[in-house]
Amino acid sequence: MVKIDPLDDSRKHNRSNFCCGQESLDNYIRKQASQDLKKRVSTVFVLVDAPESNVLAYYTLSSYAIDIKGLDEAFAKQMPLYPLLPATLLGRLAVDKSQQGKGFGELLLLDALKKSLDTSKQVASVAVIVEALDDKSVSFYVKYGFQRFENEPMKLYLPMKSIKVGIE
Ligand SMILES: CC(C)(COP(=O)(O)OP(=O)(O)OC[C@H]1O[C@@H](n2cnc3c(N)ncnc32)[C@H](O)[C@@H]1OP(=O)(O)O)[C@@H](O)C(=O)NCCC(=O)NCCS
Repeated sequence: MVKIDPLDDSRKHNRSNFCCGQESLDNYIRKQASQDLKKRVSTVFVLVDAPESNVLAYYTLSSYAIDIKGLDEAFAKQMPLYPLLPATLLGRLAVDKSQQGKGFGELLLLDALKKSLDTSKQVASVAVIVEALDDKSVSFYVKYGFQRFENEPMKLYLPMKSIKVGIE
C-alpha cells in the first residue's frame, strides 16, 4: 500500500538507492535530510509502498519569507506593505526514476499543499513557494497554477487562498 509518512530518522526508511535524475536531490535525501530534520530546518515526507521501506519519492517543507516586490501586482495589492511576507517553502520534490509518470509527483504535491494550508491556520503563510531546478520542473509546477516571481524565473509561488478552493 502506497503511503506518505514523515521521514523516520531511525533508518526505518531506506533511501540509499534513491535516484530521481537530479544529483542534488538524490544526495539530499541520502545524506542531508536527517540532519535538516534533526535541526528543524525542514520537515521531510516520504512515499513508500508498505511494507517495503524503500523511499519512492519525497518532499520537504519549511517556513520562508518573501519579498513583496516579486509578486504580481494583483496579488501584491491585497497584501500589507511589509518588507517581508510569511510563506511556506516546498523546498524539494522528487520521484525515483523507476516511479516517474505514475502520478506520484502530483500525489505528493497535493499532499504538500494540503499540509501547507492546514499549517497556515496555526502559523500564517500567504503562499507556497517552490524553487525549480530546470525548465521542465517549472512547467510541472505551472501546470498546477504556480506563478513565476518577477526577476527570479526559477522561483514560483501559489497563493494560499487559491489552494483553499480545490482541496480543503
Ligand atoms: C517533476 C517530477 C516530480 C514529476 O513527478 P512524476 O511522478 O513523474 O509526475 P506525475 O506522474 O505525477 O505527473 C503529473 C503531471 O505532471 C506532468 N509532468 C510530469 N513531469 C513533468 C515535467 N517534468 N514537466 C512538465 N510536466 C510534467 C505529467 O504529464 C502529469 O500531467 P498529466 O496528468 O496531464 O499527464 C519528477 O519527474 C521528478 O522527480 N523529477 C526530477 C526532480 C525534479 O525535477 N523535481 C522538481 C523540482 S524540485
